[in-house]
Amino acid sequence: HLNEILFHCVVALIYCSSLMNMFVSVVFAVAIVLLGLFFRFPYFIQDVQYVLAKLKVRRCLLKYMQTNFTILERFLEAARTQPDKPFIHFKDETFTYRDADALSNKAARVFLQSGLVKQGDTVAMLVGNEPMFVWLWLGLVKIGCSAAFLNYNIRSKSLLHCFSCSGANTLVAAAELQDAVEEVLPSLLEQQVSVYILADGCKAAGVESFREKMSQASSEPLSRDLRSHLTLQSPAAYIYTSGTTGLPKAAVITHARLWVMCWIQLLTGVNSRDVIYVSLPLYHSAGFMGVTGAIERGITVALRSKFSASQFWDDCRKYNATVIQYIGETMRYLCNTPKVRRDRSHKVRLAIGNGIRADVWRDFISRFGNVEIRELYGATEGNFALLNYSGKIGAIGRDTFLNKVKVQVSFCIMRGEPVRDSSGFCIEADKGEPGLLVSEISVRAPFSGYVRDLQQTERKKLHNVFKRGDVYFNTGDLMRIDEDHFIYFQDRVGDTFRWKGENVATTEVADVISLAGCVKEATVYGVKVPGQEGRAGMAAVTLRDGLKFDSVDVFKHVENFLPAYARPRFMRIQSSLDVTGTFKHLKVKLVEEGFNPNLITDPVYFLDEKEKNYIPLMMDIFNGVNLGEIKI
Ligand SMILES: *[C@@H]1O[C@H](CO)[C@@H](O)[C@H](O)[C@H]1NC(C)=O
Ligand SMILES: *[C@@H]1O[C@H](CO)[C@@H](O)[C@H](O)[C@H]1NC(C)=O
Ligand SMILES: *[C@@H]1O[C@H](CO)[C@@H](O)[C@H](O)[C@H]1NC(C)=O
Repeated sequence: HLNEILFHCVVALIYCSSLMNMFVSVVFAVAIVLLGLFFRFPYFIQDVQYVLAKLKVRRCLLKYMQTNFTILERFLEAARTQPDKPFIHFKDETFTYRDADALSNKAARVFLQSGLVKQGDTVAMLVGNEPMFVWLWLGLVKIGCSAAFLNYNIRSKSLLHCFSCSGANTLVAAAELQDAVEEVLPSLLEQQVSVYILADGCKAAGVESFREKMSQASSEPLSRDLRSHLTLQSPAAYIYTSGTTGLPKAAVITHARLWVMCWIQLLTGVNSRDVIYVSLPLYHSAGFMGVTGAIERGITVALRSKFSASQFWDDCRKYNATVIQYIGETMRYLCNTPKVRRDRSHKVRLAIGNGIRADVWRDFISRFGNVEIRELYGATEGNFALLNYSGKIGAIGRDTFLNKVKVQVSFCIMRGEPVRDSSGFCIEADKGEPGLLVSEISVRAPFSGYVRDLQQTERKKLHNVFKRGDVYFNTGDLMRIDEDHFIYFQDRVGDTFRWKGENVATTEVADVISLAGCVKEATVYGVKVPGQEGRAGMAAVTLRDGLKFDSVDVFKHVENFLPAYARPRFMRIQSSLDVTGTFKHLKVKLVEEGFNPNLITDPVYFLDEKEKNYIPLMMDIFNGVNLGEIKI
């Protein structure tokens, strides 16, 4: 059809050119070619725009690398040029760029004066979303250090593990996390860790009050010499991720990588008048990126301690937010709140995030008005990112000859690994077929790995993928690329699943559960629940000889050792774990059977937060969960 139109146009052109002079016909021809290109390649202009923006960003990065220009220097620049501009709104307080500079100087001085934190050290932070999080981090970079962002949901054994793998010898914890700290305090003190709490006073011996020291510290600027050793390859932060297996690992975020994360706001069109609302946890890259990206743009952040669907739009109105961040779950929660008349009265124009589903997107737009949605994809520790810059519902990016960043290889779910041909190399997945997304590790796309964990770092790499000696980063995500080169997320493979916006590492959960008194072995997997993003945790367990399933005790154990999002919602008691199939095979079967009591003869239990117990899963509970009547 298009070709036909083109053909007629060309005929018309030849006819016209015989009548008109040369110049007019050339202009005419160019116009037709452009029109043709536009119909043929409707995304061409966006593709080019995006590639140009990326090139600009890359040039910037090279320049910054030569001059050791970190995001902290950008912050100081902003504090000089626009000292009175609000930097952070939090509750009813506003901190300008000048305030932030002064407060982070004070924080830095507390560390310096302690004499225990030296250039290049790492300090672990167990702090929720509050301005202090930002002051601490800025302060640490000012003295040439970095911070490890502990997930404040973790407790006891996990907390100690995460703390020690950061290599820090100082811990700063939020006032409200005093109990969590006291629980592990004896071990910390034994390792001679200095422990600070962000309260005005503190009751436990061996813990010092950070605020008290900060109020006495000077806010004078700190000498640049303190950070003269920093390059863009130095670590800016450590962010924990649940990788394919085991306990959380600390991914190294270098200053170079941090720049790349910051530029997402630039690439999505955030401008200097915007106000970004950040309610995702700052200890995750998504939340942290919101604040550091705001520094790069020199804009205002409206910070919230914790996402709340019912407060979301009120906050956006209160702070005049124009940009919001999301993960798939938060968009769904927002759509599930009761409709009110003011739904569309807000100034939000742009949403940046990851994991929104097409149906939720449609609901969201029809309910809250025309908000532009920019979906992006990237792993905290990954070496690349994808961005939906082209307005295609459901797609997370584009794979074009201009912008070739990733490769998709055929993947065998049963074996849990890429399919290789007879010569041992991977096979590229066909168009339209799901395949594992991998990205070549190179000087331009480095992979910094996990701190003090070579083994885990190695596990994220694939060797000899297309030729001998090449190395790829394994995202662990299955993607599909359609005829028009749009990339769609399919599923996550490997031993993690997502629940409530967090990654859950199945082996970590299984390890914890198998320590419960009555449990012999456990295997953990995620099951689909209608109307929920990600997967709900389920454990299949066998019991110790002669013991019964002690549901109260197992609940208590799970509650003590696992953060809420990682606690299995369902528990299935088996007489033996099927060992005939391979381990992967077994899980695939368990996942397929899910938690439907009609399909399973084994007893299945359901986690009941109110009863503080695992209760037998009856048909009414099963139906309630499926219909969304029972909250899980
Ligand atoms: C950047 O840092 C490196 C290492 O500290 C140093 O050798 C180099 O001179 C610095 N470059 C600039 C422009 O300051
Ligand atoms: C939001 O905008 C209104 C009107 O433009 C203004 O009066 C108000 O002070 C702004 N609020 C904040 C927190 O900037
Ligand atoms: C991609 O962006 C466009 C326009 O900004 C939006 O309409 C579309 O929903 C986005 N896709 C996803 C999956 O977010």
